Amino acid sequence: MNDERRSVLHSWCVQADWNAPTVTGGEGAHLHLADGRSILDFSSLAECSNLGHQHPRLVAAIRAQAERLCFVTNAWGAAPRAELATRLLERTGFAGGRVFFTSGGAEANEHAVKIVRQALRRPRGVIVARDRSYHGATHLAMALSGDARTSALVDATAFGVTHVPAPYAYRCPWGSATPAACADRAATAVGERIDALGAEHVAGVLIEPDAGSNGIVAPDNYWPAVRRETAARGVPLIADEVMSAFGRCGEWFAWQRHGEPGRPDAITLAKGLTGAALPLGAVILSADLAARLESVALQTGLTYCGHPLACAAGLAALAAYEDEGLIARSRRLGADLLAAARALEARHAVIGDVRGGHGPFVVVELVADRASRAPLAPWPTTPAGLAALTTAAMDEGVSFATRGNLLLLAPPLVIREHDMADALALLDRLLARFFPSPARHDA
Ligand SMILES: Cc1ncc(COP(=O)(O)O)c(C=O)c1O
Repeated sequence: MNDERRSVLHSWCVQADWNAPTVTGGEGAHLHLADGRSILDFSSLAECSNLGHQHPRLVAAIRAQAERLCFVTNAWGAAPRAELATRLLERTGFAGGRVFFTSGGAEANEHAVKIVRQALRRPRGVIVARDRSYHGATHLAMALSGDARTSALVDATAFGVTHVPAPYAYRCPWGSATPAACADRAATAVGERIDALGAEHVAGVLIEPDAGSNGIVAPDNYWPAVRRETAARGVPLIADEVMSAFGRCGEWFAWQRHGEPGRPDAITLAKGLTGAALPLGAVILSADLAARLESVALQTGLTYCGHPLACAAGLAALAAYEDEGLIARSRRLGADLLAAARALEARHAVIGDVRGGHGPFVVVELVADRASRAPLAPWPTTPAGLAALTTAAMDEGVSFATRGNLLLLAPPLVIREHDMADALALLDRLLARFFPSPARHDA
């Protein structure tokens, strides 16, 4: 038993079962382990290491900033913070807006809620969020999340949060015949909930615009329809882009797939913002929301708001995405990954659905029976066969992420094509080994 196992309280697991390798370094899409092995990271470690591991540009920027200045309180100015805020407002096209920096994604969502409530002068305004979503693990972020693991641990209504059904087209809550019809219905449910509450009592709608780690990938018509529903009622729309931004869904920001009709009023970011090299989150506010805050005291703050080291890493990350053409590459990787996953679906009856692929984020849903769509295990339990598959994959040098019945294929944007092909060939072999079944081509 090593020190880590004895001393650290690990997230999202039974402590006695924790048995993960120790990482000592990395390069590109590979991680180096203490036992001398090198592992191909097919999850971007919680979908955040978009730039791979130990990106030299990030390391150099952090080192250079550390030589100059490590920390300044948010009450005072710091050049990397101002520069990163400016770059983010340019990138998002939020001219005249403002950026509030946090230490991560949950804090970004917490602050988006607090800030929008203050901007609207609706301190107890209700936030409409969604089932099958994940917004972080601080208490309010748990309340926002529609996450089966934690919903019993928090009374969402006590935090002023209400949930609407998700556009889960494969298991549509309304039994709609097509993904588009399901998404239309799900967007209408947002408007109906606002009407039921009274728009004047609602402070915002906070939703992941594209894909989420709880396995939803919104059909294309969903986000613009949610935008219409909220705009028609004067309710701010907050896009949780903590995971979906920076190429994960094929754009700098996932809502940009829809152009101006998809523009939210606020965006929350973290993860890929620094390529995960340092902890940093952000809330980007539209000019309108920012203007409402210009002459009132903002009643919130964090010691590490816009930490100079993290902001320097953010600036280096933005430059790396740009100079290395990684956003365009993310679209190619996503298309290749989706095609490969669909080929696996044709060969393995255990795969019930494949979705995503706007960028390198593809959800592969496993089922006990394709015709009835019966899940392999009750959500959110991870089926034993899938756990065994990922353990065997690690033994063969590839790390895959799972969530319940889902395999989440999410390699870094810098993964090399031959590494991706090798990982998918391994997955093919392991699916045959752990879920043997006749090849089926029927739906
Ligand atoms: C969509 C989304 N929002 C928020 C979070 C929370 O971010 P953090 O873990 O940095 O608090 C996550 C993390 O997985 C996420 O995927």
